[in-house]
Amino acid sequence: MNTPILILGIETSCDETAAAVYHQSKGILSNVFFSQIEIHKHFGGVIPEIASRSHLEKINPIVQTSLNKASVTIDDIDVIAVTNKPGLPGSLLIGVSFAKTVAWVTNKKIIGINHLEGHAFSSFLEHQVPFPHLCITASGGHTSLYLIKGFGDYEILGETRDDAAGEAFDKIAKLLNLSYPGGPIIEKLAHATHYRDFFNYPRGKIKNLDFSFSGLKTAVLYGLIDNKQYDIKTKQLLDDSIELKQQVASSLLVCIADIFQKKIAQALELHPHVKAVTFVGGVACNKYITQRLRTFCEKRNRLFFSPSPQYCTDNAAMIAFVGAYKAQQGLYSDLSLDILE
Ligand code: KG4
Ligand code: ZN
Repeated sequence: MNTPILILGIETSCDETAAAVYHQSKGILSNVFFSQIEIHKHFGGVIPEIASRSHLEKINPIVQTSLNKASVTIDDIDVIAVTNKPGLPGSLLIGVSFAKTVAWVTNKKIIGINHLEGHAFSSFLEHQVPFPHLCITASGGHTSLYLIKGFGDYEILGETRDDAAGEAFDKIAKLLNLSYPGGPIIEKLAHATHYRDFFNYPRGKIKNLDFSFSGLKTAVLYGLIDNKQYDIKTKQLLDDSIELKQQVASSLLVCIADIFQKKIAQALELHPHVKAVTFVGGVACNKYITQRLRTFCEKRNRLFFSPSPQYCTDNAAMIAFVGAYKAQQGLYSDLSLDILE
């Protein structure tokens, strides 16, 4: 087979049904998704069974729309790249079964893609990032720090030992009677107080490059209890004022930005040869944290890249991009492709 030109990416690992078409030399031709946020919002988090059913309903129209927007047909596609891990099993099964069926019927090549590798290389959709570089991936399910040496060549330097950074935003938002997902709402609230640090939440005691965010939720909770703003017995927020929410949100953002900055500083000491830092995943939509990390990296004479929001949150463009370099490297899967393996 000649070098594949057109890659169809499919992503269904959590609560977004997404498809994208990537051209080896022209880049992204389409990037389409259906977000289930409105469906899961009422439950305060993603309900796996509902997520799978929604993927089943949306996968056909979303893939068709991505082909239409790219002005191609399925016959033009050379390779199908599909997320096969990690994620909600029932959700992954929809994308993988769909991709395998289309690949079988149309006799196309298929490649299973690790969702986290997708995030880790998502900056390349818009930027030429030099190797080696550091990458912080922060989403609702994962928080990791990578040393990235080349396409598909990376090492995990640290990862969260408990909650992900986005999960901390979502759980703390729930404590404050805010809606799901918490990150964007917390950012808006924090903006109103100009990112002042009111409560000085703990920055964590972990010495190596791992992260821990579960203590942050506990610190927020006990801070509220001590100030008689939360009743632990009834699990009720007693002070529902906007001022309190703004102060918690603002202190939380400063704390998380400090944690990321400290980890980057530590990693740069251990790997002084890195040329750049990337910040990716849903939490990288946060303008305050992104700006803090950009300023820090510039001071350390390192380039800094973060994708635009559409490529920070879950998307199929990043899956198609990883599929493109894996295809060039000849790393194809076959129709025995399974999830989570
Ligand atoms: O990457 P993503 O869309 O899905 C996962 O793979 O998890 O990330 C979703 C996470 C949620 O936890 C959400 O609260 C967080 O990203 N998030 C944000 C912002 N926008 C989304 N966190 C902080 N600030 C934001 N503006
Ligand atoms: Zn993700």
